[in-house]
Amino acid sequence: MSTRREMLVTSALPYANGPLHLGHLVEYIQTDIWVRFQRMRGHRCIYVCASDAHGTPIMLKARQEGIAPEALIAQVHATQVADFAGFHVEFDNYHTTHSAENRALVEEIFAALQAGGHIESRNVRQAYDEKEGMFLPDRFVRGTCPRCGAADQYGDSCEVCGATYRPAELIDAVSVLSNTPPVERDSEHLFFKLGDFEAMLKEWMAAGPLHESMRNKLEEWFEAGLQDWDISRDSPYFGFEIPGHPGKYFYVWLDAPIGYIASFRQLCDRRSDLDFDAWWRPGSDKELYHFIGKDIGYFHSLFWPAVLHGAGFRTPTAVFAHGFLTVNGEKMSKSRGTFIRARTWLEHLDPEALRYYYATKLTAGAEDIDLNLEDFVQRVNSDLVGKLVNIASRCAGFVHRVADGRLAGALPDPDLHQEMVAAAPAIEAAFDQRRYGQAIRQVMALADRANQYIDRQKPWIMARETGREQEVQAVCTQGLNAFRTLVTWLKPVLPRLAGEAERFLKCAPLNWDDAVVPLLDHQIGPFEALMQRVDPAAVQGLLEASRDSLEKKPATASSPPAEAGARPAATGDESPAEIGIEDFLKIDLRVARILEADEVDGADKLLKLTLDLGDGRRQVFSGIRSAYRAEDLPGKLTIVVANLKARKMRFGVSEGMVLAASGDGGIFLVAPDAGAEPGMRVT
Ligand code: MSP
Ligand code: ZN
Repeated sequence: MSTRREMLVTSALPYANGPLHLGHLVEYIQTDIWVRFQRMRGHRCIYVCASDAHGTPIMLKARQEGIAPEALIAQVHATQVADFAGFHVEFDNYHTTHSAENRALVEEIFAALQAGGHIESRNVRQAYDEKEGMFLPDRFVRGTCPRCGAADQYGDSCEVCGATYRPAELIDAVSVLSNTPPVERDSEHLFFKLGDFEAMLKEWMAAGPLHESMRNKLEEWFEAGLQDWDISRDSPYFGFEIPGHPGKYFYVWLDAPIGYIASFRQLCDRRSDLDFDAWWRPGSDKELYHFIGKDIGYFHSLFWPAVLHGAGFRTPTAVFAHGFLTVNGEKMSKSRGTFIRARTWLEHLDPEALRYYYATKLTAGAEDIDLNLEDFVQRVNSDLVGKLVNIASRCAGFVHRVADGRLAGALPDPDLHQEMVAAAPAIEAAFDQRRYGQAIRQVMALADRANQYIDRQKPWIMARETGREQEVQAVCTQGLNAFRTLVTWLKPVLPRLAGEAERFLKCAPLNWDDAVVPLLDHQIGPFEALMQRVDPAAVQGLLEASRDSLEKKPATASSPPAEAGARPAATGDESPAEIGIEDFLKIDLRVARILEADEVDGADKLLKLTLDLGDGRRQVFSGIRSAYRAEDLPGKLTIVVANLKARKMRFGVSEGMVLAASGDGGIFLVAPDAGAEPGMRVT
């Protein structure tokens, strides 16, 4: 094996203002696969991340929910941790940017930049909401485009004609927070002089840390000229106050990437074998990799290396940008049910199935990747169940039957084994260069070869004839070794399945080079199904549940837009179409009595309800656990959609839907007046 490298790997820090969705997971799954792969090759690989806890949207969201921002970010942090664990994304440390470590580092970095003469202060004229008493980010001002006259455009650019402008240029501008016209006000801001770093950035770029697509973007930015970067925000703001500048806060995008360092810093306090300076100071012999989405390339390939360099830290070895997720060819949409939360997926489907599907689609570039749900079912069932697991299930039983579970002492077809081993370097290179799709295609082509071998040998026929036990044992030993090799290569993608395969084969944790030496004259354990087929009904259930979780928020000033620089929110909320009475009558609403209510393991939002509908019992899963205790529900009456198609969920079948009102104030079960009987029709 080549020399042992030491690498620090990060994924972008998810905002702590909402749950993770399948789009986020593209990145965390991509990174986690790479980290697991590097470790399997024997390299030391540290993977850190954190939640991105600061900024105006988080401050306003907390305000809207009537809680302190600290409470909001703590809640979201906990759901992020649970969701990552559910998808087998394993960080060495998952911190938050609202931490003592981060504050100390931000202050250190700011002081160093100031000492180096890279900070300048200057007056900025900005939109100000007098009613709310705060300066408005550009996206919080809306009005008519000064160029084309389109109504209701954001304060920074027009979505109709593409014009860019300042909020003050909008016609009839209003603050989205108060609906009052903003005024213009001056305020002193601090700027980072990015232009000081042009030569340094060009040199950094020449070392090849960026994929071609991002390098091209960067060159465009160089041509346009490097602008000073405004790193301060006025109070009220949720973030770190700038020392020596009361009422001014560091802009969230300054302290967010420093959160990478802070997360590592916290890890150092726990692991005595990590020397902070050896990893983060100039001249470090460790490698530093950032995985990000293509939308945040500017921050990571310009500001970030410049800030690091200017403050006396090492620069990244490479920044890897991926594309955006679409579902069934379109942007995720709440009304189509394709805005899918990580948690909802875990309630309906296997997380490894998603890891595998994403892996089949990922390349080194930043093209968007599509989750086509029909193709997903097909691909997972055909590759993982039909090809990979099939090899083991075809062979394991015979080894137990004819040889008491002992593998043969030699392979009957060493050439086949050699052919597989010979593919290892190409598969290894593909994983290393993030061409996961290619790696998977090569692995699956070899799975086909292994299945063809078994088809040709037909151990099930041999096994019928007495005296051929050794042949059967040998053929199945060959098959199981092929299986073991393929599982080794897929282990970064399918860590749970690989762990179970290791238990079944009774072998040590598989490492990359283990594929070479076959497992011979070795006792194996009983075979258990390693992966279930994906049931298309479960996918249907996922879509319906995602549609159900659609929060109907009135389009008022209370829902602030994302901050400038963020991608447009993938909501696509549309108000429901008008329907006739005949449509309404298609819905069979019935009075039901709750007989039993139980918590569901692994789904912290769900209760399992057993209902009496007058004509027998029904089981319904309902997302009301945050608002009701299970023991308080039996005996209560409620209203049920009785003719909703049964939906298969991970925990069981849901045969209907309980009606509840929901909004910012909580969740409230709908109930008939006293005297109503179970089974009565509601119209
Ligand atoms: N908080 C910033 C990152 C700060 S890094 C110092 C942020 N957060 S985010 O929650 O909006 O996104 C986190 C990561 O997920 C980003 O890299 C982003 O590109 C990625 N994705 C978010 N939505 C995505 C899709 N729909 N598809 C693919 N990746 C997406 O940006
Ligand atoms: Zn316009």
